Amino acid sequence: MCGIVGYVGAKEAGPILIEGLRRLEYRGYDSAGLAVISPEGRLGTVKEAGKIAQLEGILDEGMPPGTCGIAHTRWATHGAPNRLNAHPHWSQGRDIALVHNGIIENAEVIRSKLSDLGYIFETQTDTEAVVHLIDEAFQENSTLEDAVLTALRQVEGAYGLAVVSSRDPGKIVVARKGSPLLIGIGKNGENLVGSDASAVIQHTKEVVYLDDGDCAVLTAEGYRVFHIEEGNVQRSVHQIEWDLEAAEKGGYEHFMLKEICEQPESIRNVMRGRLLEETGDVRLGGITLSDEELAGIRRIVITACGTSWHAALIGEYMLEELTGIPVEVEYASEFRYRSPVLEDGTLVLAISQSGETADTLAALEEARARGASTMGIVNTVGSSIARKTDFGIYLHAGPEIGVASTKAFTSQIVALALFTLYLGRRRHLSILQGRELVAALRALPDQVAQTLALGPLTKELAVVYGDAQNFLYLGRGYQFPVALEGALKLKEVSYIHAEGYPAAEMKHGPIALIDDDMPVVALAPRDSVYAKVVSNIEEVKARSGRILAVVSGDAPELIGKVDHLIEVPHTVPALLPVLTSIPLQLLAYHAAIHRNRDVDQPRNLAKSVTVE
Ligand code: G6P
Repeated sequence: MCGIVGYVGAKEAGPILIEGLRRLEYRGYDSAGLAVISPEGRLGTVKEAGKIAQLEGILDEGMPPGTCGIAHTRWATHGAPNRLNAHPHWSQGRDIALVHNGIIENAEVIRSKLSDLGYIFETQTDTEAVVHLIDEAFQENSTLEDAVLTALRQVEGAYGLAVVSSRDPGKIVVARKGSPLLIGIGKNGENLVGSDASAVIQHTKEVVYLDDGDCAVLTAEGYRVFHIEEGNVQRSVHQIEWDLEAAEKGGYEHFMLKEICEQPESIRNVMRGRLLEETGDVRLGGITLSDEELAGIRRIVITACGTSWHAALIGEYMLEELTGIPVEVEYASEFRYRSPVLEDGTLVLAISQSGETADTLAALEEARARGASTMGIVNTVGSSIARKTDFGIYLHAGPEIGVASTKAFTSQIVALALFTLYLGRRRHLSILQGRELVAALRALPDQVAQTLALGPLTKELAVVYGDAQNFLYLGRGYQFPVALEGALKLKEVSYIHAEGYPAAEMKHGPIALIDDDMPVVALAPRDSVYAKVVSNIEEVKARSGRILAVVSGDAPELIGKVDHLIEVPHTVPALLPVLTSIPLQLLAYHAAIHRNRDVDQPRNLAKSVTVE
């Protein structure tokens, strides 16, 4: 998804911007570009389709040296991913350059108004409308910030944007509405802007998160934030807790593998300081509801997208089993456009790694507008979802860079288990049941570490099965969402078509596909539906299917019935998804390597989908 970085200070801006773009690569992009203003006021731009390395190659061609600039990675929404549509976009006089994340909804209206005034549009993007609008606004304003403000008053839609102009050099004007943006406060006469902290962290750990409606002017000397309606405002300065090292590969070949292997630690982090062995309970500082308010929760609607939606399904099973509260799970993109009935006592829980997914954010806003109380389970501190929810739980998983979510997923399951325990213990869950779950949670990081020893086996299996065209993943109960997630991981990174299915539903369709060309991954840990899953496995075997079974502990019943046994440690059913999903992550990773795919940045995918 699109990324923004900007720099104003005393150093040469070009290399700093390129470095910032590299830090944003993980978000996924199809083209990139940058604009720099020289001290004598010349605006130079370069942009290119493809990877940042290509951009770097042409950086010296016609670029004036300068200490103020903006840059962008684009993930196409309007117009093909080519050089023309890449950002920055510039005014006709080539004296204003703009980079933009989000979607301008009334771009067509603006285009036709400006075309009547003689503006010529060169690209198919919605963004170009804004740069011409700023150009027009410069006729009645003398500063860039005033021109931007006048223009934005006519813009509908979502934006995070940064603008520079040779008519008012030495400054970057930025604005945010619905698309994240932060200011990085530099130390030595420099300031930065980024669409997320990774873009600026090499230079500073002090950041100011902008709110919707905020604009800011950045110069080498300082910054000023003002709200589009309210004028000057103060926004607090936050300290970023993770460092550059954490966002780098740490010796692993890919971020995805690094993040899979980090799971013992990320799971420890989500539980740190939260488990109370004695009382079989948890301490959750982010849950600001009183016990009375908690008792008033009569229904929970969980909303999310992608992998986070799969975690939500696991949460549904847990919450219903252990708290007795009815739970529904909704795709955020569906929830936002129907008329959800949210009666009194409904809690809407948004789950998101990035905290910026546009559909999840919009679903949350819909829930708030309908009067529901809202909660977030989010990884990114200070993100939009974290700030828009009434209360929540942070994952503390550290930055997740690989586009395919791995460590955030298992941390989401654990956070849901913590929340289940918290609610359950304030309802009918006994201290003994509470203690059993706390003990299982405590043991989990070591069990995850043991599970990671499946690396070599999954690598072998990826070689044996990695050329298949299709995979089927089967699971029941808590393992059904794991089947969905296993199939999604394989699709995302290896581009092998895969389907996740409830094991018993297989008879109603997918069984027709089974032959020895389609490997079947059966999730069969020893839980309450184990015997049922064994029967489903027999159905597959009877049709010459090749079966990879994920089991917990010994599974003598399956010897001779399956082609491969993948054994994970055993734990309580609610936490088994953490362990059974790990071999599936590893299998997907190794299958992608076997097929020579771009594991960390799979084609067409974005880490954080900040547009609809
Ligand atoms: C994108 C990512 C997925 C992620 C989903 C939801 O599709 O590629 O990995 O699960 O967005 O993202 P979120 O940040 O809201 O969890």
